[in-house]
Amino acid sequence: MSQGIRLSEQQAMRRALQLALGGWGRAAPNPLVGAVLLKDGQVVGEGYHAGFGEPHAEAVALRTSAAPKGSTMVLNLEPCSHQGKTPPCVNAIVEAGVKRVVIAVRDPNPEARGGVEQLQKAGIEVETGLLAEEAATLNAPFLWSLRRTDRPFLAVKVATSLDGFLADASGRAKWVSGVESRDFVHWLRAGFDGIAVGRRTAETDDPQLTVRGAVPPRVAPTRVVFTRGGLRSDLHLVRTAKEVPTIVITDPASRVTAEKALAGSGVRLISAEGRLPALTALRKAGIVSLLVEGGGNLITALLADDLVDRIYWIQAPIFLGSGTRAFGERTPTLLGDARPWIATDRQAMGKDTLLALEKELCLPAS
Ligand SMILES: NC(=O)c1ccc[n+]([C@@H]2O[C@H](COP(=O)([O-])OP(=O)(O)OC[C@H]3O[C@@H](n4cnc5c(N)ncnc54)[C@H](OP(=O)(O)O)[C@@H]3O)[C@@H](O)[C@H]2O)c1
Repeated sequence: MSQGIRLSEQQAMRRALQLALGGWGRAAPNPLVGAVLLKDGQVVGEGYHAGFGEPHAEAVALRTSAAPKGSTMVLNLEPCSHQGKTPPCVNAIVEAGVKRVVIAVRDPNPEARGGVEQLQKAGIEVETGLLAEEAATLNAPFLWSLRRTDRPFLAVKVATSLDGFLADASGRAKWVSGVESRDFVHWLRAGFDGIAVGRRTAETDDPQLTVRGAVPPRVAPTRVVFTRGGLRSDLHLVRTAKEVPTIVITDPASRVTAEKALAGSGVRLISAEGRLPALTALRKAGIVSLLVEGGGNLITALLADDLVDRIYWIQAPIFLGSGTRAFGERTPTLLGDARPWIATDRQAMGKDTLLALEKELCLPAS
């Protein structure tokens, strides 16, 4: 990042990142993008990409501004240079007479990149890299999906006591966390293509795994249950599988039995030997981002295989002393050898605390 960045541009980039979240659950498979127009350090326009197929953030910001000529546009992703569902944003920026563009990260999408060079060719001053880490975290599933196609971006959500238990000694997990955290989880679900649990959670909690919050997703996430055997057919997930897409992943040896038990339910059965092949099958089924909500055994197994990219950890201010651990037995690691996760968010959520952790940042080349 150059030394030429002004304080007003830093503040505008924070605002752009916040605006971009307006497309949560609606913009995918497109990225989340927010844009702010500044003139003499004052905001004169702003916008975000509100949904797949809808105008891009740049176009909305230009439209809301009375005088975009001579302004600076601040946005979290490089403007696109191609004709997709909407015209190239680069053209709109040039035509509006914007004189400077500040970008957080470049777009690694081979179809859309090249915006920076086109802006520069038109005589517009361009800066890249402002709040790049925050911007990469915001669009991690999108950036990930361009880099890797073998499995979905995998996030884990757990709600635990202070001593790390998901459920008490009797197996009860309702409700470890408070109402604000539960609202957050419904918001979170809207932004993922799939919501998964292990067989024991499916049977113990009999969850709905649907989105029942303030943001209705453009496409309802697919529900996924991991088992190496079958699944009881009286469960809510099975009974409602004709209304909400539901996949059960089983191992090949149990396929025939599982097929019989779930026949006619609407559940799609996928058989795969091992966790990575199971995730590969989900990616092939169109799941680019997966939120695993428990339980401890499944999460521990995914962590052991280094398949978890992000953790949303909600900590409730209670001690349970015993129960089901969120992160079970792990290989002993000495302090100097432990790989630190990157904390990207810490915030109070009612009486609970949310800690968001990233295994690595998916920063595109600048
Ligand atoms: N507080 C929270 O956020 C939260 C969230 C979820 C759950 N919970 C609680 O957690 C408890 C259940 O957790 P749990 O750890 O006992 O069970 P779990 O992780 O939900 O389910 C374990 C089951 O997942 C299946 N599985 C498939 N592939 C697996 C793999 N590679 N490794 C491990 N399991 C795999 C297996 O089913 P098969 O045996 O059929 O092969 C296994 O028995 C419940 O009490 C629930 O209420 C709490």
